Formats: sequence, structure tokens, C-alpha cells
Amino acid sequence: MRIKKTFILGLVASLGFANLGLAPSALAAGEAVKLKDIEFSFEGPFGTFDRAAAQRGFQVYREICSSCHSAQYFAFRNLEGIGYSEEMAKAIAAEYQITDGPDDFGDMFERPGKLSDRMPAPFPNQNAARAANGGAYPPDLSVIVKARPGGADYLYSLLTGYEEPPADIELAPGQYYNAYMAGHKIAMPQPLYDDMVGYADGTEATVEQMAKDVTVFLAWLAEPSMEQRKSIGFSFMIFMSIFVVLLYLTNRRIWRPIKKGAMPWVGKDEKA
Ligand code: HEC
Repeated sequence: MRIKKTFILGLVASLGFANLGLAPSALAAGEAVKLKDIEFSFEGPFGTFDRAAAQRGFQVYREICSSCHSAQYFAFRNLEGIGYSEEMAKAIAAEYQITDGPDDFGDMFERPGKLSDRMPAPFPNQNAARAANGGAYPPDLSVIVKARPGGADYLYSLLTGYEEPPADIELAPGQYYNAYMAGHKIAMPQPLYDDMVGYADGTEATVEQMAKDVTVFLAWLAEPSMEQRKSIGFSFMIFMSIFVVLLYLTNRRIWRPIKKGAMPWVGKDEKA
């Protein structure tokens, strides 16, 4: 009985911790290369996304990454989640041409984007994407931060991890050396160089800054509801703490007469 109770309490507590993002990551262990450990504002049980960084990251994504990578789950209305107003999100959407249709004559046509549209992919299909990238497929970035062990730290490390290859490494044409890619060979040329974008808020666009910003944006894109999840986890833990105290008091009250011997007939049969 005691074991069962402890087990259930343990289960309940770990559910709460998992919601808060405190559960130990199974993937972090056994990593061959040590990732750069960046302090992101969205880490920890009360972490939130830095909206300004996410907006700068969106700019980096738009101006650089989106020429090769798609983000199929990203709709323009989602931009309100990182602090853009509806008008601004509408204006950004309208800068894109979306293929719609068919019209009354059965033809597809182009029109400016709306809030409900997804961001258009750079290539019509995987084969076209491969053909344009020397046979390598640039993966969709919608959930890449969740999909790779190491998550945000991995993405940051990868983007800042281009180095001169050591002498004993042979690179095929179209391959680049990256300290953090599995096998160290990557078909993506170094995407970031200093001052590639002009930030409107005056932040200096160093490689590290852009890598950090685009990582914040992609971490948000991979889990836009993270802040709600964490706050639910926290409320749940508070609720459970109060509930456990109440359960304990109730339990004591129910058993008190029996423990005091006021009901001597209870439990007699078992003893006999
Ligand atoms: C010139 C095209 C190009 C641009 C621009 C580009 N990428 Fe890539 N990216 C690729 C290709 C091709 C691959 C596949 C590499 C491979 O499989 O070796 C890739 C792979 C990746 C991966 C997966 C690495 C892994 O672990 O498998 C990530 C993450 C990534 N890119 C992020 C980005 C980000 C963020 C940007 C913008 C800052 C960006 N890329 C810009 C072409 C590009």
C-alpha cells in the first residue's frame, strides 16, 4: 500500500516537473561533442521568449534561411505570438505572393499573402530542393529545435561551428567542415556572416548575435505554446501541494477513532 502511494505521488510530481521543463533530458547525455551552452531566456521552469530577439530572428530566418529551408507549420498569423501587431503581421504577409486557385477558368493564380497563409516554401518539392543543393535536402525548420538532440544549444553551435577542417579530414565538393554536425561534414555552406542583415533596433548583427536570434525564433516556432505549458505546470504543482496536505489531514481524521481504540470491533476479524 505504501509503495503504491509513493509511486502515485512520484508519478504525479514527475508529470508536474515534465510540464515545467525540469525533467532531465535523456538526449543530453552521451553527446560526442560538447555543445556551446548559451543562456536563453526561455530555459528553466519560468522561462519566456525574448520577443525582441525572436523578431530579429524572424528577420534572419526570412532574409537568409528561408531561401533554402521551408517552415511548413509557420503561418503569418503566428507572428502575433512574438509581439507583432495584427497590422504588422498583415503587412508582412502581403509582401509574399501565394499561389491560390483554381479560379473560374480552372487556372491557378498568384495573390498577396493573408494572415491565414503559410509562409511559402523556397522549392516546390524535395527533389527540386535537393537538385539546388548538390543532392542534400535542407530540412524543414518548423520543429528542428525539438527534432535535434541538444535543441537550441545545438542549433546555435551548428550555426557558429564552421571551422577550417583538420588536415586528416577529406571534404568532397559541396561539403563543409562543421565542428558540431554529426560526422563533421555538412552540405550547408556557412549561412551567417557579420552584418548580413540590418537590424532595425540597432543591434549589431554579428554572427553570434544572428545565430542566437534565429535560434530564439526557431525555438519559439517549434513550441509556440511553451509559456502556457510552463505556467500550467506551475499551477498544477501548487494545486497538488495543497491537495496532498488536504489528503493527509483527511486521512488522519478518518483513522483517528480507530487508532485511539474507540472502535475496537474494527479489524477484529483479521486478527482472529
Ligand atoms: C544555401 C542554402 C542554405 C541556407 C541559406 C541555409 N541552409 Fe541550412 N541547410 C542547407 C542544406 C543543404 C542542409 C542539409 C545539410 C546536410 O544534410 O549535410 C541544411 C541543414 C540545416 C540544418 C540541419 C543540420 C542537421 O543537424 O542535420 C539546420 C538546423 C539548418 N540547416 C539551419 C539553417 C539556418 C538556421 C539557416 C539560416 C541562418 C540556414 N540553415 C540557412 C542549406 C541551407
